[in-house]
Amino acid sequence: MDINKVLTGKSKGNYKAINWNSIDDEIDKATWEKLTEQFWLDTRIPLSNDLKDWRSLDDDHKWIVGHVFGGLTLLDTLQSQDGMAALRKDAVTQHEIAVLNNIQFMESVHAKSYSSIFSTLNTPDEIDEIFHWSDTEEFLQNKTKKIYSLYHDDGHPLKKKISSVFLETFLFYSGFYTPIWYLGHNELPNVAEIIKLIIRDESVHGTYIGYKFQVQFNQLGENEQNDLKDWMYNFLYDLYQNEEKYTHLLYDQVGWTDDVLTFIRYNANKALMNLGQDPMFPDTEEDVNPIVMNGISTATVNHDFFSQVGNGYRLGNVEAMSDSDYDIGDKKNKK
Ligand SMILES: [Fe+2]
Ligand SMILES: [Fe+2]
Repeated sequence: MDINKVLTGKSKGNYKAINWNSIDDEIDKATWEKLTEQFWLDTRIPLSNDLKDWRSLDDDHKWIVGHVFGGLTLLDTLQSQDGMAALRKDAVTQHEIAVLNNIQFMESVHAKSYSSIFSTLNTPDEIDEIFHWSDTEEFLQNKTKKIYSLYHDDGHPLKKKISSVFLETFLFYSGFYTPIWYLGHNELPNVAEIIKLIIRDESVHGTYIGYKFQVQFNQLGENEQNDLKDWMYNFLYDLYQNEEKYTHLLYDQVGWTDDVLTFIRYNANKALMNLGQDPMFPDTEEDVNPIVMNGISTATVNHDFFSQVGNGYRLGNVEAMSDSDYDIGDKKNKK
């Protein structure tokens, strides 16, 4: 799609003001409202309340927490610096551009929030080491470079959307596993609160960009659809093979690797679902560690939100967090 066409509309050559009283796609407006309703900033979370829990962790677990957040910082940096700008070139409505602007800013909030966690939990030397690691670690850099190069391939707008959804709904989850695991065990609750807010955002981002993908994918002929599907599944498997190595590197030292791999296969299937495609892996919700699954389900309620849109849509309800939200894992353990 030509951005100039979007901007100029019928009065070609003139610049077109965005009119929120004339909406081409209700999903744009509903997503804007959902995202602005769930706006947050890292500065409102009292991270220092987690210091007691943090000091009780051994060095291996501290290393994992620091480095998964280093990896997540890199991916959110990619989304904020390149991802949304790349998708914006292919927008088909002006309201879609506005939504992508919102997403772009929130990706910067996400990337910054990990630095708030580091400055609370880690020493300056540890922080330097984590960033050096993120900027050089082979498997982390592999996935970042693969997505980056697709974002800059303007000849394939749908491949850009696939890349974005794979990042949002699949690649983040090897990192998200750790804070959700701690949430399930009633440890590091404020760190986990930040991650829950990020997951809630990523869930809307993945669903929205997946929806925009599906609108255009459904207009393709059968051969083009099949070619793109082949590419998509191959790309996902390629990313998965790299993700396996990344997961071993992070988690072998504490014995969590198999659980994390199940969790990321489950999320790979969710990414395909956002793109309107069939699952690739046999793993379902039942296979995921129940403590982690419960942590995830408290953060994401977007399936209902999107299914309501377009049918006299109403806004999704966002509940304020309460102390009882942290009890989930414990209750499960006591059963
Ligand atoms: Fe993000
Ligand atoms: Fe995102």
